[in-house]
Amino acid sequence: MKRTLGVCYYPEHWPEDRWAIDAAQMIEAGLSWVRVGEFAWSRLEPSPGDLQLDWLERAINVLGDAGLQVVLGTPTATPPRWMLDKHPDMLALDAQGQTRGFGSRRHYCFSHEGYIAESRRITEILAKRFAKNPHLHAWQTDNEYGCHETILSYSDAAKRAFQDWCAQTYQSPAALNRAWGNIFWSMEYDSFEQIGLPNLTVTEPNPSHVLAFRRFSSDQVVRFNRVQTDVLRAHTDAPLIHNYMGRVTDFDHYDVGEDLDIASWDSYPIGFLSDRLEGSPEHKARYLRQGDPDMQAFHHDLYRAVGKGRWWIMEQQPGPVNWAPYNPAPLPGMGRLWAWEAFAHGAEAVLYFRWRQAPFAQEQMHAGLLRPDAAPAPALDEARQVANELAALPDVDIGQSRVALIFDYVSCWAWEAQPQGADFDMFRLAFETYRAARRLGLSLDIVSPDADLSTYDLVLAPGLLETPDSLQKYKGIALIGPRTGSKTAELSIPTPMGPNIKGLDCTVARVESMPPTAQVDLENGGAFLHWFEELEGNAEVSLRTSTGAPAIMRAEGLHYIAGWPNAASYVDIIEDLATQANIPTERLPSGLRVRDTCSHRFWINYAPEAVTYQGKTIASADVLWDARD
Ligand code: GAL
Repeated sequence: MKRTLGVCYYPEHWPEDRWAIDAAQMIEAGLSWVRVGEFAWSRLEPSPGDLQLDWLERAINVLGDAGLQVVLGTPTATPPRWMLDKHPDMLALDAQGQTRGFGSRRHYCFSHEGYIAESRRITEILAKRFAKNPHLHAWQTDNEYGCHETILSYSDAAKRAFQDWCAQTYQSPAALNRAWGNIFWSMEYDSFEQIGLPNLTVTEPNPSHVLAFRRFSSDQVVRFNRVQTDVLRAHTDAPLIHNYMGRVTDFDHYDVGEDLDIASWDSYPIGFLSDRLEGSPEHKARYLRQGDPDMQAFHHDLYRAVGKGRWWIMEQQPGPVNWAPYNPAPLPGMGRLWAWEAFAHGAEAVLYFRWRQAPFAQEQMHAGLLRPDAAPAPALDEARQVANELAALPDVDIGQSRVALIFDYVSCWAWEAQPQGADFDMFRLAFETYRAARRLGLSLDIVSPDADLSTYDLVLAPGLLETPDSLQKYKGIALIGPRTGSKTAELSIPTPMGPNIKGLDCTVARVESMPPTAQVDLENGGAFLHWFEELEGNAEVSLRTSTGAPAIMRAEGLHYIAGWPNAASYVDIIEDLATQANIPTERLPSGLRVRDTCSHRFWINYAPEAVTYQGKTIASADVLWDARD
């Protein structure tokens, strides 16, 4: 496969006589793809029904004639102002009941039927006009579902749709009452029309009600996206893509991915380190200009699963962004490193965001490949270097990893509905598991709970609401827990109590959560943080706490872990299991990561200093690779 580069471009931001100059420069830099259109609704339809598509056709043709392949985005993330006059109640409401108003983007409620119809209409207009354009090679639906916390809406439209969803899901109020345990506090309903959304309650709402609302809200995203994919499929065979975000877990990406051909995500490593990752001040200082060494890889592996093997970076950070609390510049070389790391994980294409820095509006401080005055910004040369290297490298054969990490969105919602400890966060737990494995030089696949696990030698299954069937059938080495299998699908406690793993006689009798000032020490000098479970049963105890309580119980290859290991313990535990699974491990120097594919080994140095490892010196912010025998 030819792996390629590209860029996001906004022809509507620039004079028309600039388009051909930009296109020629993109080609000269070695770019192949250009994404356009995803925010341009106010210029495509300045007033209701007044369609102005000619300029977009001219732009697509100019770009295409220069040799670029075009991705066209549907513009539904930015409904124009007139849309609100037509549909005054289309805006989402936050949990406090406040309207999320016009003046930025993503100002719509996924449940508003009028807006869904508008979204279908504009998608169809674009599909009819552009599907046959020879330069158009892919479509993007909307832009970043869930960005700016836009999945949950507490509007009247959402309430009505939720009542319908409940009626379809539970069939009778009595069944819903039983499923949620509404006898508690006399919360029983007589009719579906009585059911509200789980906000503005006096104290916490029923977690089962919250989880149902989260499942519903995710289904609304799937439905919204499907309206567009159904229209597009009727007109085009080009691949359909959505650009997901980093650490957005408010909808089930696997479900949305079912209707698309390629998953893509928008990678802003430095912004993410600053605004959405836990980490000590030392860690954040060390990786200030590189981003966290595992955050990008985690999402690459996750979106490879969401895309059923096919995935892209639709937006790659090129320099300082504007939206994080602090916005440092990347170390020289990072624009190249991030792209190569994506290719090493199987990305088919990496598009930088954006071509030229806008001199106006919200993102005027956000770098591009060109400066606002059209002079080259530092990332342009780095992109050119990647393009040249791609041309010289025989293809990367990704293959399958030997280690799988199960990641599940429903579990994210369940533990948000019922954290039981302020620091219990599903993404964080999965990410720390992933990080521990990567510090041992392991390459992983992230998989959904429904994936076939039989071809993996080691499976990591932290924090899953229910124990998946795939795991019940699994015969290899697995690390299961904490918290896995502790609840029913409706978020109540099962009898017998969890984790209910076939062949493993181990039951969680009691759980406790801990503040950052407390921990449970282990007999080997390690520790559990945040969370600890008391285990009962006759399975073998393979690790104990310092006071003799079971910390890991096992039968054959299945291991259940009773807590959340600190970083060092997690590495020790996974190293031991990998050894049992005959998977070689290596303790990597700080900041260095490796990625093994069938064809190559990549060394990726996130450290701010050069690292010498196995006879190789890898400069800071550099990536090297060797063909494997
Ligand atoms: C993304 C978004 C882009 C742009 C970018 C800035 O989240 O899709 O439109 O806003 O962030 O970093």
